[in-house]
Amino acid sequence: MDFLFTEEQEMIRQAARDYAERELIKDVLERDEKAEMPTEHVKNLTELGFFGMMVSPEWGGGGMDTLSYVLAMEELSKIDAATSVILSVHNSLVCYGVEKYGNKAQKEKYLKPLATGEKKGAFLLSEPEAGSDATSQRTIGEDKGDHYLVNGTKNWITSANLASVYLVTVQTHPEKKHHGINVLIVDKDTPGITLAPHEDKMGMRSSDTHSVMFSDVKVPRENRIGDDGFGFKFAMKALEAGRIGIAAQAVGIAAGAMERAIQYSKERKAFGKLISEHQAIAFKLADMAVKVEAARNLVYKAAWLKDNGHPFSLASAMAKQFAADSAMEITTEAVQVLGGYGYVKEYHVERLMREAKLTQIYEGTSEIQKIVISRSILK
Ligand code: CAA
Repeated sequence: MDFLFTEEQEMIRQAARDYAERELIKDVLERDEKAEMPTEHVKNLTELGFFGMMVSPEWGGGGMDTLSYVLAMEELSKIDAATSVILSVHNSLVCYGVEKYGNKAQKEKYLKPLATGEKKGAFLLSEPEAGSDATSQRTIGEDKGDHYLVNGTKNWITSANLASVYLVTVQTHPEKKHHGINVLIVDKDTPGITLAPHEDKMGMRSSDTHSVMFSDVKVPRENRIGDDGFGFKFAMKALEAGRIGIAAQAVGIAAGAMERAIQYSKERKAFGKLISEHQAIAFKLADMAVKVEAARNLVYKAAWLKDNGHPFSLASAMAKQFAADSAMEITTEAVQVLGGYGYVKEYHVERLMREAKLTQIYEGTSEIQKIVISRSILK
């Protein structure tokens, strides 16, 4: 067992940390306030190679391992999870899914521009009545021979406007339930696709989230990934990987809040001494440190299992559930440590608390992770 990072992993971590501390921090509060897309940062992070970082060099990607990606996610999320989620969906859902399950022609046409970040990806699974209950897909992908005719609505889609490559789950054979679901690669500029206005979210406000409507959208048959009816399995497999990214994001949010609480406790005095010298505060910080470290180790283990070709469904669900729930607890406690200052925007921890909440919801709620975990251990 090796708990040390390689030189390359350290370099990637440092590059992400430098970018976050030097650039993301500058306008993160303003973007959060105005719910404004981090357009310039997305461009810079693309140039730095963070989009497509795990895709094989054969397809133009960075060829990095999942652990490197997790370290980058953690560092960026300490400062700005609204930017890191764009990377997460692109890398660990879309690029991973197309690279693992797409055919050669699909990789040539779609993975190559995704791998360099020239195009960005979005994952369209959730629907008004199919968020957690993902088998109940209502978006129809009618089989018309040489193409699918898609009609329906997808909800809460991260990067819906930024992305130009969509992975869309559709129901083709309703009588077969989840065995009738397909996943299609859809170009966003295909006629018949419209976006609802940007969602006004509680947290991660500057990532663009929209509902996407499909009205008689023609998608070529060759854009279906895998055999007829493979779509639900594809979604579950992509989410296994995606959850590692969100778990790493949760670790970053928690660590970011903890670091701010530690810093504040060493500057602020109350009752004649630094608040860090009061056990009431010191014990909170100790609890935070243990939870961050435990969550981090679960995430690293899930990444290691994936990198070494082992099953990682259980590990990624455990990492996501524990890291997200811990992030919620830790950010709430960080606000408590900062007191009145914690409740105003300037000190960042209230924003991190709002961001932590979303990690308990998207890519499967904490309750969904517990379904995956309990089914696995009871099997
Ligand atoms: N790998 C492969 N197959 C899997 C699988 C996995 N990890 N998990 C389930 N399956 C298969 C099962 O084997 C089963 O197949 P068979 O019928 O052939 O045996 C089939 O899928 C159905 O499985 P279940 O009976 O377990 O299905 P279920 O209805 O009980 O649901 C669930 C399982 C885990 C709850 C699943 O529905 C789920 O993960 N829901 C949450 C979906 C989710 O994460 N939504 C978030 C949207 S994406 C997002 O947030 C992106 C973004 O923009 C940030």
